[in-house]
Amino acid sequence: MKRIGVLTGGGDCPGLNAVIRAVVRSGLPHGFETIGIRNGWQGLIDGDVEPLTDFSVSGILPKGGTILGTSRINPLEKTADFQKIKANMKKFGIHALVVIGGDGTLSAARDVAGEGISLVGVPKTIDNDISGTDVTFGFDTAVATVTEAIDRLHTTAESHHRIIVVEVMGRNVGWIAVTAGLAGGADEILIPEIHTTMDEVCNNLMARYRSGKKFSIVVVAEGVNRETLGLPPVPEDLRDECGHEKFVGIANMLGKEIESRIGIETRVTILGHVQRGGSPTAYDRVLATRYGVAAVDLISTERFGRMVALRGNEIIDIPLEDAVAHLKTVDPAFYRMAKTVIGGMQ
Ligand code: F6P
Repeated sequence: MKRIGVLTGGGDCPGLNAVIRAVVRSGLPHGFETIGIRNGWQGLIDGDVEPLTDFSVSGILPKGGTILGTSRINPLEKTADFQKIKANMKKFGIHALVVIGGDGTLSAARDVAGEGISLVGVPKTIDNDISGTDVTFGFDTAVATVTEAIDRLHTTAESHHRIIVVEVMGRNVGWIAVTAGLAGGADEILIPEIHTTMDEVCNNLMARYRSGKKFSIVVVAEGVNRETLGLPPVPEDLRDECGHEKFVGIANMLGKEIESRIGIETRVTILGHVQRGGSPTAYDRVLATRYGVAAVDLISTERFGRMVALRGNEIIDIPLEDAVAHLKTVDPAFYRMAKTVIGGMQ
């Protein structure tokens, strides 16, 4: 029997377990056994693996997170680590890898594939920013979570005649902010792709107030441009293990500034990791399952160095090279459309 190794890297998201389950189960008719690699690339360096069977993946479909654990490391950063990866693939008889990850993990996968390792990629991230696929799994669940939060914040904001600033994830792109903001009927949406000034934000909120609406919901993506808003940059020492800026907290500054400029009581809610946790929606379970099955099909036909993707309603595959060439930012027309109904479009 040939062996497939499966790993999950980068930030977790709902639907990872659905992919793992689909890889294990759809591999069986192809004659593949699956080995789970713990904690992303780190598990392959350390030789930390576990056999996955039809039985062991039972019941994981609705579970959030990843049963394998995850990490954020670059497998090619140290030559010695990469040698260990090659040695462990041989030791455990792993014929090919299914690498489930976002931009960072898939970029590493592209490079590892370039070094001659047989692998295929599966796109995950709540941010929905992987180019080459219409949708990443995890996004739909995050949007549902944020939409529910906005609905709840609406009733309390309205009762107290307050502004509530809701901070959502999205370090480089505003897909969650625009989609959930639209679904939740937010009154202002601030995203990294569109640079806004504090004057514009306050003018929109005041116009709404004058029209008789005494409360507002402002949705802000954590990675919104701070400079044009006149807010200080992220401190240099606030970085994660990969050197990415830790953005969390802009809503506090924004809320304070809004309140001091327009004098309406303003409160702040930072949704944070609530957006990444919990059970995947039906949509994400189905999409993740389709991706897992398609990844095994790619391995069975030896089409390595590729990523499965959604195009329209079809599952296709594209070179990893193209998949990570650029980030998929919010379509300006979609943002304009959202602003048309929430107000504040110049
Ligand atoms: O998974 C991507 C993401 O959700 C970003 O939007 C966010 O900035 C980041 O993860 C935060 O991840 P962590 O807290 O795990 O470093």
